[in-house]
Amino acid sequence: MVKKIAVLPGDGIGPEIIEEALRVLGSVEKKFKCKFEFTFGDIGAIAIEKTGNPLPKKTVEICVDSDSVLFGAIGDPKYDNNPNVKIRPEQGLLGIRKELGLFCNIRPVKMFESLIESSTLKNEIVKNIDFTIFRELTGGIYFGEKKLSKDKNTASDLCIYSRDEIVRISHEAFRAARDRKNKITLVDKANVMESSRLWRRVVKNLHEKKYKDVNLNYLLVDNAAMQMVINPAQFDVILTSNLFGDIISDIGSVVGGSIGLLPSASVGKKSALFEPIHGSYPEGKNKGIANPIAMILSTALMLKHLKLSGPANSISKAVDLAIQNRKGTRDIFPESNYTTSDVGKYIADNIN
Ligand code: IPM
Ligand code: MN
Repeated sequence: MVKKIAVLPGDGIGPEIIEEALRVLGSVEKKFKCKFEFTFGDIGAIAIEKTGNPLPKKTVEICVDSDSVLFGAIGDPKYDNNPNVKIRPEQGLLGIRKELGLFCNIRPVKMFESLIESSTLKNEIVKNIDFTIFRELTGGIYFGEKKLSKDKNTASDLCIYSRDEIVRISHEAFRAARDRKNKITLVDKANVMESSRLWRRVVKNLHEKKYKDVNLNYLLVDNAAMQMVINPAQFDVILTSNLFGDIISDIGSVVGGSIGLLPSASVGKKSALFEPIHGSYPEGKNKGIANPIAMILSTALMLKHLKLSGPANSISKAVDLAIQNRKGTRDIFPESNYTTSDVGKYIADNIN
């Protein structure tokens, strides 16, 4: 059966890493009985340049009309360095998450055996890292009302959550915990924030009603950030709100090896989007130094979601092999001369 894939390369290194993901999917088509139909859409700074809108209507239509969305990266320093601009590339990503109802962002963090030596932390601390962050993605402070006073001297962002928003992602996280080590940690700031206290009440309630068999514990986000560096192997499933999830997943990505390795899945009731957790790395654009692995692993997550587990596992294995044989970019192997496309080709050639 043909799967329709919307492809949104976006900005910075986005197009380069997407190219490698598509190369790998090309190889999957040859080795397995599956076929993909790709439709490209603009998003982010490139879309602003072309149309004035970071999320053109056409792009949303392409995504709605597809089985899955592959997303590269978004962002441009031109906008980051100017707080006065009203239209920003990131609105494209936040917009598509909202439009497609992608409330559940899943970020798996695992230590690659052969990268233990290059970790910034001691071997014994990182060797057993294997956890997954469930980050709420369409609510909280990202989407609450934003205000700037007339004199521009006061600003606010509202962090707002409803019971339903918390319940639907909590179900996903509890179910995932059952398939893993049966442990879930709710990360919040319940000692200060009312919205965090709501998270605690709702999650506790759901646990008592439906998931008594799962081991639930709570951690304040500042402590969680520290624990993730001191003893990251203690975690199994982490459940958290939008902003806290954004921050702790960057910590998770480096303790697990490199930010260039961490994929993510954003799922909703109908649609799903797959993207690396790293940004657009504009300094690395067109230099052939971007690590394509997070993007390629995001593609594997997409195949799994499309119930194509065989090809998905084959991609994961080819990535493992690349890392074992030190066929990676400089961020993970400083002595390496491998370019973005060398890595992509190596992985594509080892799909079987
Ligand atoms: C991420 C990114 C985005 C976010 C940015 C680019 C808007 O950092 O996916 O983690 O903050 O969600
Ligand atoms: Mn982030």
